[in-house]
Amino acid sequence: MYHIRSLADYQNAYKKSVEDPEGFWGEIASQFVWKRKWDRVLEWNFKKPEIKWFSGARLNITENCLDRHLETLGDKPAIIWEPNNPAEKGKTLTYRELHKQVCLFAAVLKNNGVKKGDRICIYMGMVPELAIATLACARIGAIHSVVFGGFSAQSIADRLQDAKAEFVITCDGAFRGAKDIPLKSVIDDALVSCPFVKTVIVFTRTRTPVSMIKGRDVWWEEEMAKVSGSDEPLCKAEEMDAEDMLFILYTSGSTGKPKGVVHTCAGYMVWTNYTFKNVFQFENGQVHFCTADIGWITGHSYIVYGPLSAGATSVMFEGIPTYPDAGRFWDIIDKYKVDILYTAPTAIRSLMGFGTAPLEGKDLSSLKVLGTVGEPINEEAWHWYSHHIGKDKCPIVDTWWQTETAGVLISNMAGVTPSKPGYATLPMPGVQPILVDENGKEVHGNNVSGNLCIKAPWPGIIRTTYGDHERCRVNYFATYENLYFTGDGAMRDENGNYRITGRVDDVLNVSGHRIGTAEVENAINMHTGVVESAVVGYPHDIKGQGIYAYVIFSGTNTDPELMAKDITATVSRIIGAIAKPDRIQFVAGLPKTRSGKIMRRILRKIAEGDLENVGDTSTLLDPSVVDEIKKGSLKKS
Ligand code: WTA
Repeated sequence: MYHIRSLADYQNAYKKSVEDPEGFWGEIASQFVWKRKWDRVLEWNFKKPEIKWFSGARLNITENCLDRHLETLGDKPAIIWEPNNPAEKGKTLTYRELHKQVCLFAAVLKNNGVKKGDRICIYMGMVPELAIATLACARIGAIHSVVFGGFSAQSIADRLQDAKAEFVITCDGAFRGAKDIPLKSVIDDALVSCPFVKTVIVFTRTRTPVSMIKGRDVWWEEEMAKVSGSDEPLCKAEEMDAEDMLFILYTSGSTGKPKGVVHTCAGYMVWTNYTFKNVFQFENGQVHFCTADIGWITGHSYIVYGPLSAGATSVMFEGIPTYPDAGRFWDIIDKYKVDILYTAPTAIRSLMGFGTAPLEGKDLSSLKVLGTVGEPINEEAWHWYSHHIGKDKCPIVDTWWQTETAGVLISNMAGVTPSKPGYATLPMPGVQPILVDENGKEVHGNNVSGNLCIKAPWPGIIRTTYGDHERCRVNYFATYENLYFTGDGAMRDENGNYRITGRVDDVLNVSGHRIGTAEVENAINMHTGVVESAVVGYPHDIKGQGIYAYVIFSGTNTDPELMAKDITATVSRIIGAIAKPDRIQFVAGLPKTRSGKIMRRILRKIAEGDLENVGDTSTLLDPSVVDEIKKGSLKKS
């Protein structure tokens, strides 16, 4: 049951996981190191919601990711780090070295007053110390909240306040492509409105000048020097309860405020390990290269916890796929003899645009499995990936999942269950998807579509949204009774394969990043000249979706180009560069119903360039605004 090797294994495992979930997961969980076994495998109630996996069990996830491998894999690479600039030497940390660094940094955290249950915000570039910092938090039972390096000071401040985090770990700066991002200075701006932050630990990466405030800011290197050299057994792992919080990760929803998705120790560990091993069909000794950033869930689960708990070698890349040229991923695969490549459709589409020249002379023969995540993959990109990268011999796993699900829920298993371009295919054991119509009625049969829900809990399901359990209930468990609602639409084919068709709520997926339209609108509306705005997505060749903003402006400035730039700058400042609108159209009015609701359907059509099919406008307060907007459309068909 633990390692699925054939279609028959999959079918057996799936059947057992549905008929006897406790027996199924109990057996899988026995593969891990526990300080105390569980009393019950599963207790759940979706109404509240209250979900407990392995209750009564005691453990520390870092013992499962590090300590238990020391004897057999101590000298094997745990993390291979490839810097942004290929001329700089990379770093390899063996399991023994990683264990030592994690223990030392855990001791640093303790020395600085961090206690079990404290929240720590981590805002770093993709350096090994980011993985070390997250694991060190887990070692002592502090709850990490990693914030992606592309978020602004305001976004960080919002997250610090929501999590009431008193500690921050950051870098002086981060290298990304040709850019040098001043992370510490962004943190300094964020902390102006977060006086409760007691300590900031700063790792030196770019050695860009930073302000270091006495009594608050300390250097990573100096703190590490204080604890290294001590002979005492390196920082003992804190004994955690199965359902103690492991981390918070903020993600966008349909309201303006990001939600702090909470995952807990035991379920998260079991789920990321199980999905990692089975989806990618990981074999001992393999090198896994997940190109995500640890600031997102994909990096948490498939750079850090999944691969390390499985004893894999995880490649961590600091840079971007096109720097210094579009052959960078292929160089890395060649250099480290990567077995498994896991990346996003956006990256594939963008690299596709460079043709096959960047592939010349690159030996990709080590590759065995390819994966994609984050957004639907179009067939053209799927075939390009399969042919040019996988040389038609590597299975592609199209993995559908979410921050809230901790790990993969629907995907084929490499070479074991069939793949179908554009389809995530079949549910993992333990996952019971159903499609429902608008009224929550189950849509039975094949070749049907609906809103995708899940019937029963899997070990990695979201437990709560930090500080606001009601929000978790309303968002995920209240739309349809007794179901977890994913926010995605899907269709099911004649063989039971699922194809994810995209979000059915007001969340965009831009380059595989989730961005709430309400969040972008809030940011645009902060600009002094803006009266009102409405944001929708439109199909974008590379990013999957682009951000299209309709803005009513009443400032004295009338130069549209400058106005658009000011608005873009405002969004960058409020959320971060990742949320910058791709197109801004200034309008005199927005299409509203008599009750004042914006008809986004119309705006979406216009943004797509489909001006003829905006549909019925008779219920609008003023249908003439639609013609005005059509005239000014930036994407005419
Ligand atoms: C979308 C990323 C189609 C989906 C792991 C989901 C996908 C959202 C796929 C979650 C896929 C993710 N095919 N769509 N294989 N994977 N999505 O939380 O809309 O950043 O709800 O998690 O990405 O994004 P998140």
